[in-house]
Amino acid sequence: MKTKIIITGGTGYIGSHTAVALLESGYEVVLIDNLCNSSINTVGNIYSITGLRPKMEIVDLCSKKECDEVFNKHGDAIGIIHFAALKAVGESVQKPLRYYQNNLTALMNTLDSAVKNKINNFIFSSSATVYGQPEKVPISEQEKTKRPFSPYGNSKKIGEEIMEDLTLVNKELSIISLRYFNPIGAHKSGFLGELPTGTPNNLMPYITQTAIGLRDKLFVFGNDYPTKDGTPIRDYVHVLDLADAHLKALERILNGQNESPMEVFNIGSGKGYSVLDVIYAFERVSGQKLPYEITTRREGDVPELISSADLANEKLGWRATRGLEEMVASAWEWEKKLR
Ligand code: NAD
Ligand code: WQD
Repeated sequence: MKTKIIITGGTGYIGSHTAVALLESGYEVVLIDNLCNSSINTVGNIYSITGLRPKMEIVDLCSKKECDEVFNKHGDAIGIIHFAALKAVGESVQKPLRYYQNNLTALMNTLDSAVKNKINNFIFSSSATVYGQPEKVPISEQEKTKRPFSPYGNSKKIGEEIMEDLTLVNKELSIISLRYFNPIGAHKSGFLGELPTGTPNNLMPYITQTAIGLRDKLFVFGNDYPTKDGTPIRDYVHVLDLADAHLKALERILNGQNESPMEVFNIGSGKGYSVLDVIYAFERVSGQKLPYEITTRREGDVPELISSADLANEKLGWRATRGLEEMVASAWEWEKKLR
């Protein structure tokens, strides 16, 4: 019998790539999603890549009743990867209650159902945003977390604190929180990628939508930062590398290799690229000029976020393997296939 893993937010961007990685490694996969930011077509696209069809459960995890029902049905699962959340940083500033309500209620309901069904292995999608403006880069897991600028970011910080409290009393639980830096890119098949609704907030989809003609130009938010070219530096990580990190984290807790009930790992490449680096990489791989204009800084942006990726390498045996051009090229292929 195959080992069953539940992936919440499983039709989303990172969840769907992780589902492929798990199916290809021989796991049985159940996707739970309310489709508020993803499409049911993803299930067919996962099948097109793997030849395997994950079970799909359309459930709002904020409904305690629906959540309990779906976990009772799949109580034989041995692990959960929890991606389900709303993630638009700017929107969360405008609608804080919606973000706290959705992200924290879905997390707490899922944890409660996990405990009741003795599904003791849990991976959580956290974010580098929990470091706020870090004291130094590269950022190690030893860096103190700070109150993030946005309610979205704060929901991740509070989520980690809730899980820490829970592991103090539920001794069988093993939790790994993965703090992603900047995930970009798409599956090489062209079947899976990021599907932003409305105007993208993030750099990569804004670039590809501009290049395809959906937007007039990219606005570069500030070139007066204390960085090599004045534009902010980020640690971009390929979504396929990210999917692999989840597999490695899952195997660590399934094999009982974790050293404490709740562990935290940065998931980044350890390398930093400026906004202009990303634009130039895009121009190289696409062979076309990208129209852009330098404008004012975006509120809440910090000059530089780069992970120390050493702990994940040492403990998970994971390191990002795909470079900037490969990430950007895959995002561009995905955009072209969408239109
Ligand atoms: P996504 O929006 O593509 O996927 C999230 C999925 O969760 C969506 O399919 C959505 O429909 C689902 N969902 C939301 N609320 C739900 C609910 N109440 N019940 C059931 N399903 C629900 O986002 P993503 O980029 O794949 O992000 C996955 C996770 O990683 C999120 O927790 C996000 O906060 C976190 N994260 C993302 C990034 C990033 O830049 N993409 C960076 C750091 C952390
Ligand atoms: C990258 C750089 C912008 C758009 C966000 C979240 C973070 C995490 C990852 C979830 C920045 C610049 C962007 C544009 C630009 N998500 N930019 N013009 O802000 O590093 O991180 O996504 O957890 O929490 O905050 O990513 O892609 O928005 O921006 O100049 O139109 O590109 O200023 O320097 P960010 P991003």
